[in-house]
Amino acid sequence: MRLKTLVLNASEDGFRVAADLLNQGELVAFPTETVYGLGASALSERAVAGIYAAKGRPSFNPLIVHVGDPKDASLYARVDRLAQVAIDTFWPGPLTLVLPRLEHCVLVPAVSAGLDSVALRMPNHPAALSLLRASGLPLAAPSANPSGGVSPTTAAHVRDGLGGKISAILDHGPCPVGLESTVLSLTDTHSRLLRPGAISRDALQAALGQTVEVPGDEDVPSAPGQLVSHYAPSARVVLDASVRPKGALWLRFGPASLEADISLSEAGDLSEAAARLFGALRELDDMAEPDQIIAVAPVPEMGLGVAINDRLRRAAAPR
Ligand code: TXA
Ligand code: MG
Repeated sequence: MRLKTLVLNASEDGFRVAADLLNQGELVAFPTETVYGLGASALSERAVAGIYAAKGRPSFNPLIVHVGDPKDASLYARVDRLAQVAIDTFWPGPLTLVLPRLEHCVLVPAVSAGLDSVALRMPNHPAALSLLRASGLPLAAPSANPSGGVSPTTAAHVRDGLGGKISAILDHGPCPVGLESTVLSLTDTHSRLLRPGAISRDALQAALGQTVEVPGDEDVPSAPGQLVSHYAPSARVVLDASVRPKGALWLRFGPASLEADISLSEAGDLSEAAARLFGALRELDDMAEPDQIIAVAPVPEMGLGVAINDRLRRAAAPR
C-alpha cells in the first residue's frame, strides 16, 4: 500500500501532528544530530514491525530506542555505575549504550531482536527532543533509509528512500554530525565499541577509566547490524585513490583539485567531511554513468576519520 507521506515543519503544529501519528502506531521520520531516524512507538508491536517492513530490515538486527530524559534509561535497562558515568558524560549526544534489558521491560521484544540487551540513546537535537516530549513515547528509530543503503542526512534523502512507505517526515534541515552514533556495549564487565562514531574511543576510555575493546574483524559482527556491506550507493566504491582513476568519479578530502568531482572538505576538516559524507555519496551515485565507479581519496585514520573510514569501508565492501 502506498501512503501519502506528509512533510512536517519543526513547529508546534508539526510536533503535535507527528506525535499524534506516532501514538496511533504510524511511522514518522525525524532529524537527530547524527542522521534522520525512522521513528515508531517502542511500545507497539505493530509500529515496530512497520519499521522492519518499511526498511526491508532483517529481523535479527535490533533497533535503538530513543529517550527524552537520561533518567528514562533505568526504566528499561540495568544501569550500573559505568553506564551511569557514560550517560552523565555523553547524554544528550551521539552515544548509544547497549545495556542489559530489565526482566519486565515494557519495550516490545522486537526492538531487541530477541537479545536480552537493549540499545538506548538520548539524541542532542532540538526537534528530536521536542518530538520525544510531545509524544511521551520511547521511540525506536533506525536510520531512515532502506536497509543496506546510504543513511539520510536531509528530509529529501528520507523521501527518496522511504516516500510512500511512511506517514510523515519531520523536516529540520541537514543533520549537523552526519554519521550515526557511536555504539558502546556495556552488557558485561568489558566495554566494547560496536560502531565508531563522533564520540571517540579515546573520549570513552577517558570517561570510563577503562580500556574499551574493539571487536576484531574476524569476529562475528557483535552489533548484528554491522554487516560488512552497508551504507552502499548503487555505484561500486573503491578506496585509497590518491589520484583519479581513469574514467572514475573522484571524491577528494582536502584542498580542492580541478579534477575532483566533490571534496568532502577543502580545508581538510574531519567534522565537515563527516557531515558531507553521505550526501556526497548520494550525489556521486546520481552522477555516475552505468558501471562508472566512485573512487575515494584517503581520509586520515584519526578522530572522526575513524568513523568516516568505517562507513567508507562498508560502502566499498563486496555486496
Ligand atoms: O545515530 C544513530 O544511531 C541513528 C539515529 C537515528 O539515532 N540510528 C541508527 O540506527 O543508526 P541503526 O538501526 O541504523 O543502527 C543501530 C545499530 C545497529 O548496528 C544495530 O545492530 C545496533 O545498533 N544495535 C541495536 N540494538 C543492539 C543490541 N541490543 N545489541 C547490539 N547491537 C545493537
Ligand atoms: Mg542504519
